[in-house]
Amino acid sequence: MQLGRLNHIGIATPSIEASVAFYRDVMGAQKVHTPFDLPAQGVKVCFVDTPNTQIELLEPLGEGSPIHGFLAKNPAGGQHHVCYEVPDIHEAKAWFEAKGAKVLGEPRIGAHGTLIFFLHPRDMGGVLTEIMETPRAEDGH
Ligand code: CO
Repeated sequence: MQLGRLNHIGIATPSIEASVAFYRDVMGAQKVHTPFDLPAQGVKVCFVDTPNTQIELLEPLGEGSPIHGFLAKNPAGGQHHVCYEVPDIHEAKAWFEAKGAKVLGEPRIGAHGTLIFFLHPRDMGGVLTEIMETPRAEDGH
């Protein structure tokens, strides 16, 4: 397997509204997408474009949201995960499992509408890592 493009950086926040204002007014972000709910993952999501990647703002959605635990430790929010593109999610899963990395659950539909999985930070140098199937990954968009 070949490591693909950095697709996005996940940032947990207690308020997408406040974070959007920050990225617009302080960071100078030109393009902020419309926020949407992703109930299956327990998150509200908002993408902010940068010229070469995206910021994925994540606000907890529902009681069982995995973001609650993160915000309990980091009340102001912070960097949550990084996401890399691969052309074939199942090939990537087999690759990481063969390397001894813990795959968290089965591949499922992520915020971009394509298959994703997460890798335990313990096996990833302390970084919660998302792997995302992107048909474009092979031809570099
Ligand atoms: Co993500």
